[in-house]
Amino acid sequence: MKALILVGGFGTRLRPLTLSLPKPLVDFANKPMILHQIEALQAVGVKEVILAINYQPEVMLGFMKEFETRLAIKIVCSQEFEPMGTAGPLALAREKLDDGSGKPFFVLNSDVISEYPLQKMIDFHKFHGGEASIMVTKVDEPSKYGVVVLDDNSGEVQRFVEKPKSFVGNKINAGIYLLNPEVLDRIEMRPTSIEKEVFPNIAKERKLFAMVLPGFWMDVGQPRDYVTGLRLYLESLQKRSPEKLAKGLNIVGNVMIDKSASIGEGCLIGPDVSVGQNCVIEDGVRLSRCTIMRGARVKRHACISGGIIGWHSTVGQWARVDNMTVLGEDVHLSDEVYSNGGVVLPHKEIKNSILKPEIVM
Ligand code: GDD
Ligand code: MG
Repeated sequence: MKALILVGGFGTRLRPLTLSLPKPLVDFANKPMILHQIEALQAVGVKEVILAINYQPEVMLGFMKEFETRLAIKIVCSQEFEPMGTAGPLALAREKLDDGSGKPFFVLNSDVISEYPLQKMIDFHKFHGGEASIMVTKVDEPSKYGVVVLDDNSGEVQRFVEKPKSFVGNKINAGIYLLNPEVLDRIEMRPTSIEKEVFPNIAKERKLFAMVLPGFWMDVGQPRDYVTGLRLYLESLQKRSPEKLAKGLNIVGNVMIDKSASIGEGCLIGPDVSVGQNCVIEDGVRLSRCTIMRGARVKRHACISGGIIGWHSTVGQWARVDNMTVLGEDVHLSDEVYSNGGVVLPHKEIKNSILKPEIVM
């Protein structure tokens, strides 16, 4: 089987992290977001993944070569020279996707995190015999997603409305599809949206089916959702593979610490924390609801509650970081500084407290 991952887009909502790396390569739970997806695809027998890219392809390709060998899966790029939207990239990659076997292929948005129940999706697709299957999930705030109205018994999709202005329903498109090659005949070679132009038409012909995704789901393309997504991910890991979580007297709730990270004396860590490769957490640090990315250092007695500390940044001693602060790559927060929701661009040194949520350029 094959799969295409929609990688393009500038990832503006995840700035400043996406100023350093394309969104799919931003670490989530200590590995690039896209790796969670590639591993899940490989587990159900996908042999080739096509990355639909329109931004920084060189950076992506460099990383992908490493994963290709490590995971024994073929990874190829399909590069756009203008953003082709969410359907156009399928037309562009048509020859790569349709090998004449008639087999369906997966399409994934690159910023969604879940348990990826892809085998269940394959079974569902075979069972209904339609042209396309999509996963849906229930959310509290459906207006920022594609809303799907379906027949609860058969799963047949009656309506698909992208970002509705008024309430349509609370089941939304989870950004995980399994499509028959015939779907490619519906897509023209131009920038176009699968949500606005393709799915509504397949639904009209009653060939679009949706299954409710079991387990958690989150679009982690914005900092607040990223932190919520980490909580849900760790909670699910606690059920599926608790051995991957940290244990000890200094740990509260679900916490993931890379084995190369060092943790000082008298720290209290958790709940809902990930500490990445080669991080140094000095003595007496308090961490909760946050991600500390690869190579970052948190100095003595600092307290971080709610936020993302970018690669190779430092948080000074007695500093306090909260309210969804996001430090880009290589940011240095001086000793005793307070950040209340600051969003700091890469390579900055912060000497004064950030007293209210704001972007520091
Ligand atoms: N190759 C390529 N080219 N990829 C693109 C382009 C493009 O021009 N534009 C967007 N993408 C990729 C994004 O990188 C992302 O992986 C995916 O397409 C969806 O784009 P987003 O910008 O993240 O869309 P969204 O989050 O507002 O809405 C989409 O996802 C929701 C679930 O998270 C839609 O699919 C909604 O229907 C859905 O509910
Ligand atoms: Mg998104």
